[in-house]
Amino acid sequence: MKITVIGTGYVGLVTGTCLAEMGNHVVCLDADAAKIGVLENGGIPIHEPGLLEMVSRNRSASRLQFTTDVAAAVNHGTLQFIGVGTPPGEDGSADLRHVIEAARNVGRHMTDYKVVIDKSTVPVGTADRVRQAIAEELGRRQVGVDFAVVSNPEFLKEGAAIEDFMRPDRIVIGADDERAVLLMRALYSPFIRNRDRLLVMDVKSAEFTKYAANAMLATRISFMNELALLADKLGADIELVRKGIGSDPRIGYHFLYAGAGYGGSCFPKDVQALISTAQAAGVALKVLPAVAAANERQKQVLVDKVTARFGADLTGRRFAVWGLSFKPNTDDMREAPSRVVIAELARRGAAVQAYDPVAMPEAKRVLSGVLGLSFVDQPAEAMRDADALIVVTDWKEFKSPDFDFIKATLKQPVIFDGRNLYEPSLMRALGIEYHGIGRSSNGSG
Ligand SMILES: NC(=O)c1ccc[n+]([C@@H]2O[C@H](COP(=O)([O-])OP(=O)(O)OC[C@H]3O[C@@H](n4cnc5c(N)ncnc54)[C@H](O)[C@@H]3O)[C@@H](O)[C@H]2O)c1
Repeated sequence: MKITVIGTGYVGLVTGTCLAEMGNHVVCLDADAAKIGVLENGGIPIHEPGLLEMVSRNRSASRLQFTTDVAAAVNHGTLQFIGVGTPPGEDGSADLRHVIEAARNVGRHMTDYKVVIDKSTVPVGTADRVRQAIAEELGRRQVGVDFAVVSNPEFLKEGAAIEDFMRPDRIVIGADDERAVLLMRALYSPFIRNRDRLLVMDVKSAEFTKYAANAMLATRISFMNELALLADKLGADIELVRKGIGSDPRIGYHFLYAGAGYGGSCFPKDVQALISTAQAAGVALKVLPAVAAANERQKQVLVDKVTARFGADLTGRRFAVWGLSFKPNTDDMREAPSRVVIAELARRGAAVQAYDPVAMPEAKRVLSGVLGLSFVDQPAEAMRDADALIVVTDWKEFKSPDFDFIKATLKQPVIFDGRNLYEPSLMRALGIEYHGIGRSSNGSG
């Protein structure tokens, strides 16, 4: 099939590449010429495991091309995926500027039947606005060309995006056009060969499903984070509680880890956008505002533990921070808890020596100007002359560190573990002062 993907970010690039991998001919369009330049020169602008190899393979096979040429891109695909960003507007609602502009571009240039597919996360009702934008542009050109608008929200996880796209749990298609549904079925059938995972529904339900999924996941995290705060006070261990409840199949083990708060480009903005949608619809949601508020508080928890240990004024203190991206296996720094932790430590006068396996270039960009912050090339270097180690992101390489080395290098052996990577009992046995999240029953704070 001939496919155009508009927006070549985390979602667009993975979508385009995986569709090319199945033999389709894909043109990826982006308004950012620098991004397209990187791709045309054989690189990729983001870190995503396995993606560079897949992009190279499909470029070599001439199934995957990158361009900034809107007319050529629109001309290419019968299927036009819109995968542009939907950042939060000032009131928290999703800013649809890029989506509508992408739709208008399709309307400005299309000359034959197109299926326009909203893959970006967009509020209920957006497909109607996309349809209207395209119709307006066609009207302006005084041409009548048939088209359909389909909702196909994306559920991939950064860090495991290729695996998620190639072997999806489900594919949600919101459509009311038979021809478009047939095309979508044909497109996705190679991805769901062993059993049908395609859920076809009305457009609004499909749009809503994406927000419902992210809101549920964010709720689980905030719920556990809040219980972890309580566990600290009560002297219970949230990790044991997690196992105790996760064993109930109605609850399950996934997404029940207490930590330093959720971040990334999706959960925070999607929770806010759903709250906004509800407000506009006259429904006062009670749970989701609490989920968001709990997360804001949680991003401060590591600093609260540090100040409880070292005092509110951290002048003259130095801290090692391991992990900057909002989660492992990505360089995405959007809404990363590390940003809050580092800014707050710096505000209180501390020096910070930060390390991340892949996110350092992006971190340098978004944290430029933070006083007292330096970046180091090795996790060990971060600990030199530091008062304590603070783990913010659970990269694999932090999971079994050389604790003897940590002990010998830090000024005093103190670890603040924002991801509960280490066992409090082992830390005690090693003589390391350990502060996890919700693990005080085992001697940590
Ligand atoms: N990142 C994720 O893990 C994830 C997962 C599921 C869904 N989503 C959703 O997918 C959408 C895209 O997210 P992302 O993380 O890939 O964003 P991103 O910021 O990484 O990429 C968006 C790209 O769109 C480009 N763009 C903007 N306007 C354009 C236009 N008119 N024409 C061409 N290109 C244009 C930008 O230059 C940018 O490269 C969002 O709605 C997001 O909520 C993201």
